[in-house]
Amino acid sequence: MWTDDLEQRAAEVLPEHVYDYFRATAGDLDVLRRQVDAWEAIEHLPRVLRQASSPHVGTAVLGTALRTPVMVAPMAQQVAADPAGEVATARAAAAAGTLLGVSTNTAVRFEDIAAVGAPWWFQLYVMEDRALTEALLERAVAAGARAIVLTVDITGLEHPRAGATVSVEPTEWGAAPEGRRLANLTTEERERARGDGGRIARDLGFETIGLLRERTGLPVVVKGVLRADDARRAVDAGAAGVVVSTHGGRALAGAVPAARALDAVATAVDGNAEVYADSGLRTGAHVASALALGAQAVFVGRPVLWGLATGGADGVQQVLERVTSELRRTMNLLGAPTVADLTRDLVARA
Ligand code: FNR
Repeated sequence: MWTDDLEQRAAEVLPEHVYDYFRATAGDLDVLRRQVDAWEAIEHLPRVLRQASSPHVGTAVLGTALRTPVMVAPMAQQVAADPAGEVATARAAAAAGTLLGVSTNTAVRFEDIAAVGAPWWFQLYVMEDRALTEALLERAVAAGARAIVLTVDITGLEHPRAGATVSVEPTEWGAAPEGRRLANLTTEERERARGDGGRIARDLGFETIGLLRERTGLPVVVKGVLRADDARRAVDAGAAGVVVSTHGGRALAGAVPAARALDAVATAVDGNAEVYADSGLRTGAHVASALALGAQAVFVGRPVLWGLATGGADGVQQVLERVTSELRRTMNLLGAPTVADLTRDLVARA
């Protein structure tokens, strides 16, 4: 897979501990391979004699028009791949016509990311010191975030921290270099975040969704849902979207891959909210499978970091455009002229 070659090149240019952090999963390294393989295992039933000269991949997520359903996952510590961090990633997203998630643990100020002009969603880890969370939310809203992505799949870890980097074992949370984290907090607030206040809150419930919605006036997307019953509860509690995700294999090692959880979640949500997928998506064919199984759009994670490390904003743009052009090619072979034509019947075996 070309993303493996790109990863290889990134491994050559990145400091070893940074590459290890980006590549890390829970359990052993095969956990990530299982996420990718689950997408590979999906087989298609193409329609013939319905080919379009150029399939239309444009879509919309929560009312934001995108030129491609391939979005950028929120990922911490992007400055470790390129000094411009999310500013470079946002430039690539803008050029490719897509949006990016911005992590709670970004080392770049929201205003600088927003100034690029790409639409962005703020990914939230609720911290034990709720005033820190309030401050981040207020600043993200003021800077123009279009949705709040509440990540719910790592709160069960031992002492996860909002402003920390994760090393190879996700239970070993080490501190990131000072000044390279939580850029959207003041010096005094960062100090509090370094103490217990920066721990990711473990006492959240479905009511958190409605509270966030009220507080920010923005749609809330719940990231890290793998069960149909959880998806339904999240939507009943006011979620505008759910992301079917294993956090790229970084949360529960033995969790079902997103590729196999998506179908049941999309069926349960039944059009009452938008569904997205991530974890292990590497090719346009994977994206086509996700859309056929009910995803409105997908997030790509690590390949974006590999592109960022090897080529900055241009490198990320190439990743997004390559996956998008593969998607177009796959849609043509499937007999699906638009993303709306990517329907469940195209999947033979999920
Ligand atoms: C992540 N991810 C993540 N998710 C999140 O909600 N908040 C975060 O701060 C981060 N940080 C982060 C850092 C790094 C280095 C990686 C690789 C991932 C998870 C991310 O949003 C997404 O779910 C996965 O990366 C998708 O899987 P792939 O595409 O990397 O296989």
